[in-house]
Amino acid sequence: MIAVLSLPFSQKAFPVVAISAGLLLSACSPSAGDGPNAATKVAFNEFKPLLETHCIRCHNTKSVFGGLILENRAKAFAGGNRGPSIKPGDAAGSLFYQVLDLPADQYHAMPATGPKLNEAEKKLVHDWIQSGADWPEGPEGQIKTVATVPSDNI
Ligand code: HEC
Repeated sequence: MIAVLSLPFSQKAFPVVAISAGLLLSACSPSAGDGPNAATKVAFNEFKPLLETHCIRCHNTKSVFGGLILENRAKAFAGGNRGPSIKPGDAAGSLFYQVLDLPADQYHAMPATGPKLNEAEKKLVHDWIQSGADWPEGPEGQIKTVATVPSDNI
């Protein structure tokens, strides 16, 4: 009987606690809510295919455009000629994101050639950086370098 009684109590109490905790969080944290800083958590594995498809061919140890190598976490976070371009938690302040929004004819617009990223892809990059720029060290975070023109194709 005691167990039966205590169940509805804890069910009632939980949402109240959750709501007050939520209010407290949104009052303290500027990134909570629906503002321009709002972001969905993006894990590295969700972001990785974009890097492989749109970026790595010009940012690897053989083609080091802009001094930026995106093959692993250490190199990517070290940045390129203009310094670190990924600032975890600050997409708007990250060069890595800013270059995606530049007009296509701009020298610094990325990708430098080929189609620009669409809105969903840009949002993925935004949310990945904003939610902490998850990128594991070691083999898990290694990006395979694909040569622009493989030698056996020539
Ligand atoms: C076709 C080649 C090419 C592709 C693909 C490409 N880039 Fe670049 N990237 C360049 C060149 C060339 C530069 C140097 C010009 C500059 O500084 O803007 C550069 C520079 C950069 C820089 C500035 C580095 C610094 O510190 O000065 C960033 C950040 C960057 N690229 C991000 C990206 C991202 C993100 C992608 C994929 C969405 C991408 N690039 C795809 C050629 C490319």
